[in-house]
Amino acid sequence: MKIALIGYGKMGREVEQVARSRGHTIAARIDPVSNATTASEISSQTIGAVDVCVEFTGPASAVGNIEQVVRLGKPLVVGTTGWYQHLPAVEKMVMQEKAGLVYAPNFSLGVNLFYQLAIEAARLFHPFEEYDVCASEAHHRLKVDSPSGTARRLSEIVLEHFPRKRRVVVDSLNRAIEPDELHLVSLRAGHFPGTHSLAFDSSADTVELTHTARSRAGFASGALLAVEWIVGRQGVYTFEQVLQDLLAGRR
Ligand SMILES: NC(=O)c1ccc[n+]([C@@H]2O[C@H](COP(=O)([O-])OP(=O)(O)OC[C@H]3O[C@@H](n4cnc5c(N)ncnc54)[C@H](O)[C@@H]3O)[C@@H](O)[C@H]2O)c1
Repeated sequence: MKIALIGYGKMGREVEQVARSRGHTIAARIDPVSNATTASEISSQTIGAVDVCVEFTGPASAVGNIEQVVRLGKPLVVGTTGWYQHLPAVEKMVMQEKAGLVYAPNFSLGVNLFYQLAIEAARLFHPFEEYDVCASEAHHRLKVDSPSGTARRLSEIVLEHFPRKRRVVVDSLNRAIEPDELHLVSLRAGHFPGTHSLAFDSSADTVELTHTARSRAGFASGALLAVEWIVGRQGVYTFEQVLQDLLAGRR
């Protein structure tokens, strides 16, 4: 497939490596700042010949880029975060233009498979009253948001599939936790690349599920799965939907 990379920063470069290893061609690299690009702007000249675009830029530019790509009739995978308040408008435009778009705050294949494990685990443990559940995450000291978006999604999964928990508490508790509260704890220190855990605990034992990120390659692998899936489809999809479709095909 011929791919245009919109944004040639850390993620754009990572996607390029994984795309090449999967036999795809990078036909355009669009970035107004990076000097290793083929163009600084999206246009029919710069992306006219590609099959699909991958967007990893920043919150301020994502929506404008999506609009341009969709109007030029190309399917698109968007990894940029921080623009989701515009999702309803983007969905409307994609539908009007009969285009295809996949987005995800976390394209890591491992994290998204971890979500599927979390769903199964929550369903399995919920009927057994002796098991409680809690969540934790650790990231490097430069991360500014807390809890991470991934940890928030994990908590949503627990609330959905372990109905004894009805709300998430993230602050330190100067009281005993209520049985329907899910405690989600964040740790910030050093260089942790991103660790997320879910623990099911009883007086007899603990069962823990943990995902530990090692590099950005996991994000790029997931984005490439989405690239290969979206070509020829219409509509707006999350990566979780894409993965569920791929898993259904493999079962
Ligand atoms: N969804 C995921 O799995 C995932 C994973 C990692 C990062 N991210 C997100 O992806 C985005 C990019 O991350 P990064 O680490 O590559 O950042 P980065 O700063 O390394 O790269 C961003 C690049 O986009 C370029 N850019 C800015 N405006 C542009 C525009 N209008 N058109 C084209 N290029 C433009 C910049 O010049 C820069 O080279 C961020 O929003 C980050 O949070 C998402």
